[in-house]
Amino acid sequence: MNYLVTGGTDGIGCAIVKRIMSTSNSAKDRVFVVYGHDDKKAQELIDDFPIEEQEKIVLMKYDLSDESVVEELVGRINDEVDGLDYFISNIGIGEYAKFDDYTMEMWNKVFSTNLTIPIFLIQKLKDKMNNNGSILLMGSYAGIKAYSSSVVYSLSKAGLIFASKVLVKELEKYGVRINAVAPGFIETKWQKGRSDESRNRICAKIAQHRFGTPEEVAKMAFDVMTNEYMNGSIVEIHGGYEYF
Ligand SMILES: NC(=O)c1ccc[n+]([C@@H]2O[C@H](COP(=O)([O-])OP(=O)(O)OC[C@H]3O[C@@H](n4cnc5c(N)ncnc54)[C@H](OP(=O)(O)O)[C@@H]3O)[C@@H](O)[C@H]2O)c1
Repeated sequence: MNYLVTGGTDGIGCAIVKRIMSTSNSAKDRVFVVYGHDDKKAQELIDDFPIEEQEKIVLMKYDLSDESVVEELVGRINDEVDGLDYFISNIGIGEYAKFDDYTMEMWNKVFSTNLTIPIFLIQKLKDKMNNNGSILLMGSYAGIKAYSSSVVYSLSKAGLIFASKVLVKELEKYGVRINAVAPGFIETKWQKGRSDESRNRICAKIAQHRFGTPEEVAKMAFDVMTNEYMNGSIVEIHGGYEYF
């Protein structure tokens, strides 16, 4: 099996890569992992596996907030493999400036990274995908429920989530499925700077009274992407946010 995971060296994406590796039972499996900046973190991912497993992971350094790298990444995938089985579009960035301070430049960067680039990667990789292949989009519960203070992040994720529905028809002829997952608050470096007051306020609204772990999201994401009857679905994972 061949997998492409964007943003796979940290947080949720890294947990997905580890989940994939834990199920890999062929020396021919390849997991192409895209990251943008942190070489040390990328090397740590490789070092986490025994030597004989390490060559299954192929690191690819591309800043996926830059539209000009899309062709390069697609060209590299075309050179490396005959077909892709899974594409996990995981990268997402936030912008926490106040709405009144937004510039179009900020707006375009978030939309480009969170929506435009993932969609064009799908457009360019769809005929590279094997029959019965599967695409997983990393949305956010902030794209479903208006709780985030970041308007541009929420709207970009709402667009990405809806892509899991509008692209079903486009992908049908390739035998490729597409689904999205929508996590709530997950313990990654995104949440590190949060004050205790903010964390407590959020946890009080979650029936599980805690943030989720990247592993919990990865477990669900893996099940969604490998389930052969799931297509056009959006699956939420937020511990019961504001459900009680
Ligand atoms: N954490 C949450 O609470 C939460 C909740 C809902 C949804 N999500 C979504 O889940 C996804 C992953 O979030 P996370 O919290 O796991 O993030 P994270 O810990 O910040 O993961 C970042 C990963 O993405 C890569 N990355 C970031 N910017 C990149 C860029 N411009 N080009 C290439 N790679 C880039 C990082 O590599 P480098 O650092 O080397 O660039 C790293 O591998 C995002 O789409 C996010 O919106 C997160």
